[in-house]
Amino acid sequence: MAEEDSMIVNRDFDGPVICVKGLRNSFGSQVVHENLDLDVRKGEILGVVGGSGTGKSVLMRSIIGLQQPDEGSVEVFGESLLGRSEAETIDVRKRWGVLFQGGALFSTLTVAENVMVPMREFYPDMDRAFRREVAKYKVCLSGLPPEASPKYPSELSGGMRKRAGIARALALDPELLFLDEPTAGLDPIGAAAFDNLTRELQQTLGLTVFLITHDLDTLHAICDRVAVLADQQVIAVGTIPELLAMDHPWIQEYFNGPRGRMAASQR
Ligand SMILES: Nc1ncnc2c1ncn2[C@@H]1O[C@H](COP(=O)(O)OP(=O)(O)OP(=O)(O)O)[C@@H](O)[C@H]1O
Ligand SMILES: [Mg+2]
Repeated sequence: MAEEDSMIVNRDFDGPVICVKGLRNSFGSQVVHENLDLDVRKGEILGVVGGSGTGKSVLMRSIIGLQQPDEGSVEVFGESLLGRSEAETIDVRKRWGVLFQGGALFSTLTVAENVMVPMREFYPDMDRAFRREVAKYKVCLSGLPPEASPKYPSELSGGMRKRAGIARALALDPELLFLDEPTAGLDPIGAAAFDNLTRELQQTLGLTVFLITHDLDTLHAICDRVAVLADQQVIAVGTIPELLAMDHPWIQEYFNGPRGRMAASQR
C-alpha cells in the first residue's frame, strides 16, 4: 500500500507538515480567526494553547477539513486541502489520526470495532481477519490490556476511553496525530501516563503531533514548541522559555501565574 501511495503523494516532502496562512473563520457575526498563520514542523510536538473559546478546536477542524474557512490556505504535507473533494484528499487524510475533544468513540461499537472504523473507511477491501489483527495491535500500542478490545465505551474508565481513542487515531499508521485536550478529565497520574504515551509514540513512530491542551504539565513535559491563540490569531510560537521572554499579558499570566510556576518548578 505504501508504494501505491507514494505515486500519488509526495512522501519526501520536508517542508512544514502543516502550513496555515491567512485563515479566517466566522460563525455569523462572530469572527473566530482573522489572518491566522501557523506552521507545524516535521517530527515536533506542537502544543496549542489559548483561553476557552479562542478557537483551538475550530482551528483543528479547519486543518482536517471539517470546517470550511472563509479565507486562507491550509496545506498538509505540502498538499492544499481547501476546496477539494473528500476523494481528492483521501491520500493525505489517510496520513493523519485524530483524537477529538471528549473522545468521540462510537458508543454502540466495541473498542476493537471503533479502531476498525478508519480501516473500513479508507481500506474497504482489507481482509477482515487482518483488520482484526491490526486492531488488536493498536489497542496494545495504546497501553490498554487486550481484555479491553471487546468492551463498549460505557464499560471503560475515562482514561481507558482516551487510550481507545488513541488506538483508533493510530489505526492507519499515521505520520501526523491531532489530539484535542487528551488529558482533560484525567487524574494527574493518568495524565502523566498519557503524556508519556504521546512522547513514546512520537519518538518511536516518528510522529508529528498537533496537541491542543490546557494542561501546563503536559506543555512542560512533552511539547517541543507551543503556539498561543489569542485575539483571533496565533500571537506567538516558540519554546516555553521563548514565550516567557515575551511581555504579552495573557502569556505572562498563563505561564508565569501560580499554576505555570508550579508546573515549571516540577521539571
Ligand atoms: N459549529 C459552530 N457553530 C457556531 N459557533 C461555533 C461552532 N463551533 C465553534 N463555535 C464557536 O467558536 C468559538 C471557538 O470555539 P472552539 O470550540 O474552537 O473553542 P476552543 O478554543 O476549542 O475552546 P475550549 O478550550 O473550551 O475547548 C466559540 O465561541 C464557539 O462557540
Ligand atoms: Mg476545544
